[in-house]
Amino acid sequence: MNFSFGTGQASAAKADVLVLPLFDSDLTNKKHQPSAWAKSDKKMRGLLGKLASQEGFKAKAEQCTVVQTHGKLGAARVILLGLGARTKFTPEVLRQAIGRGVKRANALRCKTAAVVLPGARELDACLQATVEGAILGGYRYDKWRTVNKDEKSAPRIDKVQLYLPDEVKKDKSMDGTVALARAIAEATNFARDLVNEPAGTMTPSILAERAKEMAKGAGLALQVFERKKIEELKMGMFLGVARGSVEEPKLIHLTYTPDDKEAAKRAPIAFVGKAITFDSGGLSLKPSDGMLDMKTDMAGSAAVLGAMQVVAKLKPPFPVHGFMGACENMPSGNAYRLGDVLVSKVGKTVEITNTDAEGRLVLGDVLAYANELKPAAIIDLATLTGACIVALGPWIAGAFGNDDQHMWNVTESARVAGEDMWRMPLSDSVKDVIKSEIADMKNAGDRMGGSISAALFLKEFVGDTPWAHLDIAGPSNVSKEKGYLSKGATGYGVRTLVEFIRRRTAELNAAVVDEATSPADELTE
Ligand code: BES
Ligand code: MN
Ligand code: ZN
Repeated sequence: MNFSFGTGQASAAKADVLVLPLFDSDLTNKKHQPSAWAKSDKKMRGLLGKLASQEGFKAKAEQCTVVQTHGKLGAARVILLGLGARTKFTPEVLRQAIGRGVKRANALRCKTAAVVLPGARELDACLQATVEGAILGGYRYDKWRTVNKDEKSAPRIDKVQLYLPDEVKKDKSMDGTVALARAIAEATNFARDLVNEPAGTMTPSILAERAKEMAKGAGLALQVFERKKIEELKMGMFLGVARGSVEEPKLIHLTYTPDDKEAAKRAPIAFVGKAITFDSGGLSLKPSDGMLDMKTDMAGSAAVLGAMQVVAKLKPPFPVHGFMGACENMPSGNAYRLGDVLVSKVGKTVEITNTDAEGRLVLGDVLAYANELKPAAIIDLATLTGACIVALGPWIAGAFGNDDQHMWNVTESARVAGEDMWRMPLSDSVKDVIKSEIADMKNAGDRMGGSISAALFLKEFVGDTPWAHLDIAGPSNVSKEKGYLSKGATGYGVRTLVEFIRRRTAELNAAVVDEATSPADELTE
């Protein structure tokens, strides 16, 4: 999708469709109407407003109405998008609305769109949300469809002219915002593709191959370790899970290093993603219904791969690493058993009480490996527990961690990025449930508080490093389309991770300026 800034009046924009987001007050307050709306309505001799109201359009959140212009405007039709009340507005409302608008435009076979930005306070965030919403809304996964070829080759929005709100002049920084938004949304769609791919064609080897292509394109360093090296690293838990499958496990490690020598020496940030390419449950086999979506059990690693692609473009002044332990969880004559004891990389022993609690085993060893870099902070993303979906519902990720400042940075990044996340407790009071009689701990606890005991298990492998664990079992997938999302993978996490890196970069730059300008000696004496 290509973006440019439109000049002149949006009502005169030559495009297949004019996309016009409106607040509910824009319709009722006749004195301060956005000019794109007022001018379009005037050119149509009041018909735009009349037809919209006949269709019941009140600019309520999630409303989306199409009006034909019969040659009176530059565009053949207008898509009116409701933003709801100004007081409830966030850039995410706009992202969802624009995504909805692009879906409708595609259904109408439009190729070009003129999109008007609403006059809201956070212009930069709105611009970013608009571009992201358009690209995310334009996504679909149809590589396996052979019937309905017409549908596949039908025209789709590929050119977008952006119209700034009244009284806002275009400035150079806006090009940077558009480029960033594009990078983020394209990386999110890349993650969606990886997750939507069936497990048969997204094996650990293929995932490693995809990581390799991405790293090459982005200019990131990449290491892929095979079983032998994973054995040398003594990752007994990872190897235990991988044993049941004929697919070879892969330990994937991506590295971004800043060009600047001093910056390269800074403590890195480490991202870790769960990469179970198929979770059958192992010998604790899942029932068919529960297994159906388990190709998506590598969504955490897809988010890490997407985020790393953007990190390569952002070039933050500190190193960033991405780790994923990729394998399948399968039952077989060689599978790990219930009652087996696995020896983890850090030496702690684990009694297996449920082979379906496999994610924490792989993650534990990979977290321990990431921790050897002495990172400034770790974030892991994992479709870890059904219990987290029970606790928070399908839209919200659970955030667990051992450091309040780090948790604040992560949850704030999610809020700014428009991804729903809620901090969950990591109370030691729950820890009893993973106590084992025969080993240091067991891998599965109670059903009750299941997402907490899973997080407590992971905590054993990160030492004192500030660490955040994001249980994305819910929001990594949606069962029905909504706003910019279509049924299936969401790419959840890419936007939060990127925002986290941007936030840390800004903090670091502010600190450097502080050091250079503050009269430090005077203060200390
Ligand atoms: N991958 C699943 C968690 C999951 C469930 C993700 C539903 C997405 C949707 C994970 O490996 C798992 O099976 N967890 C078990 C843990 C239990 C055996 C302690 C669960 O949640 O039931
Ligand atoms: Mn499982
Ligand atoms: Zn799993």
